[in-house]
Amino acid sequence: MFLYHNKEFILKQGEKLIPLKKIIEKEKPPFYLYDIEGLKNWYQNFLSKSHNKVKVFFSMKSNFNPHVLKALKDEGAGVDIVSEGEALLAQKCGFKAKDIVFSGVGKTVKELEKAVKQKFFQINVESFEELKRLALICLKYKKKARIALRMNPNIDFSSHPYIKTGLKGHKFGLESSELKKILSFIKKNQYLHLQGLSMHIGSQIFDLKPLFKSIRFLKSLYEKLQQEGWPLKVLDIGGGLGVNYQKEDFKEEEKNLKEFGKFLKTLFKGFKGQVITEPGRFLTARFGILCAKIEYIKQSPDKKFIILNTGMNHFLRTALYSDEHRILSLKASSKNLQKYDVVGPICETADCFAKDIFLPELKSGDSLIIADTGAYGFVMSNSYNLQTPVREIAFDKGKKLLKY
Ligand code: LLP
Repeated sequence: MFLYHNKEFILKQGEKLIPLKKIIEKEKPPFYLYDIEGLKNWYQNFLSKSHNKVKVFFSMKSNFNPHVLKALKDEGAGVDIVSEGEALLAQKCGFKAKDIVFSGVGKTVKELEKAVKQKFFQINVESFEELKRLALICLKYKKKARIALRMNPNIDFSSHPYIKTGLKGHKFGLESSELKKILSFIKKNQYLHLQGLSMHIGSQIFDLKPLFKSIRFLKSLYEKLQQEGWPLKVLDIGGGLGVNYQKEDFKEEEKNLKEFGKFLKTLFKGFKGQVITEPGRFLTARFGILCAKIEYIKQSPDKKFIILNTGMNHFLRTALYSDEHRILSLKASSKNLQKYDVVGPICETADCFAKDIFLPELKSGDSLIIADTGAYGFVMSNSYNLQTPVREIAFDKGKKLLKY
């Protein structure tokens, strides 16, 4: 856990309390720091509160650090992947083909060949065009593919438009009206084994009603197809549970997890198949921080800017989705608070992490923490402006983990 202890920002792992100041003195910021122990505990909490029928396929697009992947694998998770690169890394970290669900709208021939030849647990098909491509590959190798149809339920919820994926007009999934032709194509093809249905309506879901409505929609369709004779056995309900980046506690997540678990337990009572979920952010966001150094405190006539040595090149979320993460100083203090804009070095006005926030008086050379950056942080970093790349460090049981 990352927290303040005696006003000092620390990483707490078991009995070990490690001041961030100590880590930062050794490791030169900018770097992401992951709390593997916290992640494992939270994962177990997630499992115990959801339904015992649920199998987690961690959405590795949210964080593909090998230590994170290996930890989740050791705890029993599978992975939800979207590319050959993710497949290779997952396999290097020990995930077996039976632990891999392959999603994504743009799967290439090479990627599908690999999925078929290696017998991935499931390929979530997103279009008729993909299905036809897959059928040709199966025929070529005379191998079966286990598929699920990703449905687009056309159900809205409140989130940033860029991270909604389940509405008519979005590129994701299949609409119900397309099902007839798709099912008749599958029926005629001995190599396509339809084992399930999947969905993912988007990210940062806080009001769970639309998610529940979508899951009910998917389950009804599943039962309808079963009645028509399709031997379905997997229902993949996607990811999307939200993390409140403004709050330091887990109260909202705990409340939603409880509601989510209760809903699953009721809906899937007596269910014979396998329920799959693909959380990403909900598992990892809280267990990563981005550590940065202050290059300048720039005092302009109307504003004070903190200019960091990390920006939208290393952490894109705020610029892309206007989602401000908490910014923390290494020492908590309520004395002599100053108003700052916290920005990065990149030549874009969008390169701003926070506006008009209050922090203790700081100087060039001090460090700051951008909190809750364990999901969609490092994975979305890029080389814009050719700044020094950001590194990743992971700690477990109070110790830095070696290169994996
Ligand atoms: N399953 C599928 C098919 C997905 O496309 C995604 C995320 C997930 C699961 C996991 O969603 P999560 O539980 O993490 O919400 N870069 C954006 C988020 C993009 C999410 C893309 N798909 C952000 O930083 O908010």
